[in-house]
Amino acid sequence: MVIYDKDGKRNKWVQSWTDHSQHIKFGVRFQRQRAFRMYLMSESISSDTPPHIDPASGIYPPKHQDIIPAAWERDLESILIPETSIQRRVDELGALIERDYADKNLTLVALLNGTALFLADLIRRLSLPVRLDFMGISSYRDQTVGGEIIMTKQLQLDLSGSDVLIVDDILDSGATLKKAVTLVESKSPASLKTCVLLEKPARRSVNISADYTGFTIPDEFVVGYGLDYADLYRNLPFIGALHPRVYNHTSN
Ligand code: IMP
Ligand code: MG
Repeated sequence: MVIYDKDGKRNKWVQSWTDHSQHIKFGVRFQRQRAFRMYLMSESISSDTPPHIDPASGIYPPKHQDIIPAAWERDLESILIPETSIQRRVDELGALIERDYADKNLTLVALLNGTALFLADLIRRLSLPVRLDFMGISSYRDQTVGGEIIMTKQLQLDLSGSDVLIVDDILDSGATLKKAVTLVESKSPASLKTCVLLEKPARRSVNISADYTGFTIPDEFVVGYGLDYADLYRNLPFIGALHPRVYNHTSN
């Protein structure tokens, strides 16, 4: 960087000081990036079993506690899963799926709309040939409780002979995932597995579990990272517990 005095001459002192400070800034940034890379490297792929969110501390892992941005402060009770934890778990899920589908003919079938963010992150972690299709399955929700299931978009790809992995945002009662599995099974895939970002075991009424699970969470209505309430909150980069005052107007 070249610095000039008021009279137009090059100011060598300021210039060398500025270069020096840039150098320090770069050095600090470099150190931080190096520390972060080493931190990532030290985290090995944990296991196939999803980490349980501890309702007491509310987070996984307890290293990161993000602050709720002002725009959502009133609507959210807490950040259940911070962005960094989501990204780390998606890394792990990607590695597991990549390992399991190394010699397969993988087609991801993502359920709309809740998987948009999860899918975008997950699919970029897969260094494999992957086909992608979407299925629109929506359950009419009375406040936070699921109801009748409707189809909003049909499959487009021929799934026969394909190794299909259904991707959904959250496994709650299980009715949505069961419906998706039944529909895909009727298309004669070579194999069929399921992957969900979250599962809430407390409300399971259909006998189904996912083959890959991001996080097991307590019985709270959650939003963010694709999940909505009344079509809002999908854009939060973290998963937050919605404050009951948002869906229950009688409470505060
Ligand atoms: P299920 O059919 O009861 O398993 O519900 C699955 C669908 O309900 C998910 O794909 C979500 O769209 C929605 N859902 C269930 N629980 C939550 C939640 O806590 N937050 C947001 N959406 C949810
Ligand atoms: Mg959904």
